[in-house]
Amino acid sequence: MPKRTVSLVVNGRPQHVETHPMSRLLDVLREDLSLTGTKEGCGEGECGACSVLLNGQLVNSCLVPVGQAEGARICTIEGVGQHGLHPVQAAFISEGGAQCGICTPGMIMATIDLLARYPEPALEQIREGLAGNLCRCTGYMRIFSAVQKAAQAGP
Ligand code: FES
Ligand code: FES
Repeated sequence: MPKRTVSLVVNGRPQHVETHPMSRLLDVLREDLSLTGTKEGCGEGECGACSVLLNGQLVNSCLVPVGQAEGARICTIEGVGQHGLHPVQAAFISEGGAQCGICTPGMIMATIDLLARYPEPALEQIREGLAGNLCRCTGYMRIFSAVQKAAQAGP
């Protein structure tokens, strides 16, 4: 399949990338746009490390062919922090919800998505909302505490 120009709006900035339409959005973000905050874990849609928002929806960017994202608004972890530390990031730091950090960008994207839907989530809603994001380090309770703290801080 030949390359073509794919246009996206990433973290508020229009981007035009010469690529194969079947390239993974994850690779375009990391390699073509140097946005390496989005991590690759499993590469199979199982771990959530590569989570970004696509037109406001949480997606695993390892599963999205970039051609399907033509014209879309993408928000990555770099966009979350572009005006200073986001309250969700601050809560992950203060509650110890980030350890090795591999899962953290995806967890933060999933938390932002969760809090947009449930501004005051119950523990069960937090568990469900983050069920697609795996963490090998924290045992999850510190992450859940961070989500609760971020919810208390408000949008
Ligand atoms: S790297 Fe995409 S879900 Fe694991
Ligand atoms: S902090 Fe290491 S995988 Fe979550």
